Amino acid sequence: MTATARIIDGKRRADQLRRDIAIGVERLRDESGVVPKLAAILVGDDPASAIYVRRKGEQAAAVGMQSESHRLSATISQDELLALIDRLNHDGTVHGILVQLPLPPHIDKAAVLRRVDPRKDVDGFHPVNVGLLASDGEAVDGRIIPCTPMGCMMLLADELGSLEGLNAVVVGCSNIVGRPMAQLLLQARCTVSIAHIHTRDLPELVARADILVSAAGAPGLIRGSWIKPGAVVVDVGINRVPGDNGNGSRIVGDVCFDEAKARAAAITPVPGGVGPMTIACLLENTLRAAIAMKSDRDGEAAVGKEPASQLVRI
Ligand code: GUN
Repeated sequence: MTATARIIDGKRRADQLRRDIAIGVERLRDESGVVPKLAAILVGDDPASAIYVRRKGEQAAAVGMQSESHRLSATISQDELLALIDRLNHDGTVHGILVQLPLPPHIDKAAVLRRVDPRKDVDGFHPVNVGLLASDGEAVDGRIIPCTPMGCMMLLADELGSLEGLNAVVVGCSNIVGRPMAQLLLQARCTVSIAHIHTRDLPELVARADILVSAAGAPGLIRGSWIKPGAVVVDVGINRVPGDNGNGSRIVGDVCFDEAKARAAAITPVPGGVGPMTIACLLENTLRAAIAMKSDRDGEAAVGKEPASQLVRI
């Protein structure tokens, strides 16, 4: 009989995380009157980005946070965008700021991401937060962790407990997922390899992975026969391919799911795996930022305190 992997239910885990965040929000409000607020900036009218920004606002409201979205024309100047970020940086009622990517080509993405106050950078994209994530040690306890990798780490921790000593392979080296994911796995004491477009023998590398995280954005890239029996597979890919879900397309991951589930011990489905975790982790970061700003205001040390939702320690 062929073994079948456990299917990791990211939707259920995200629901649980949001319930815990809602409790944290209520407690913060009752104790201090502070209501966390998330400000999202959307430049242009990319339909997928508009859907993401709308969902972020809806889910913020559902956990008791405030949110505001700033929808700007695709032709806005970089200076106008930077001026809005400055205003949000100085607005004491705003705790989290995110600039939805991608940005139009005439805007310097790095300059925009650098402008966000690192304490409000709930995406974790500011170079200060990127640097803290790459640093070892206790002194970086209060750092902001990018949302999708944070969600992946929660799912892996649920599945495996300690990750110490395991071989982890991350496929893809984007700033949003691959690179921060590799840093978090290293911090969890894995032996980490990062594969990318120039990797020579991907099947051979994947075959050594106890933990495989694929964030390549390439449908069906990872074949089931490559996967080490008993591995835990986290598929971050969200790829639209021709199919029959009503509008002539369907969403698949990077991993050939049916093949992989015959070999892996556990696997995230697409959709319903990592995807739902991302916005929940954004809310976690917003709550953490609000707590840290309140502690700063009160002259307390936030570092070393319980994480915002009481559950997340990664
Ligand atoms: N575009 C795709 N993923 C993300 C994300 O996690 N944050 C932001 N701001 N934009 C994105």
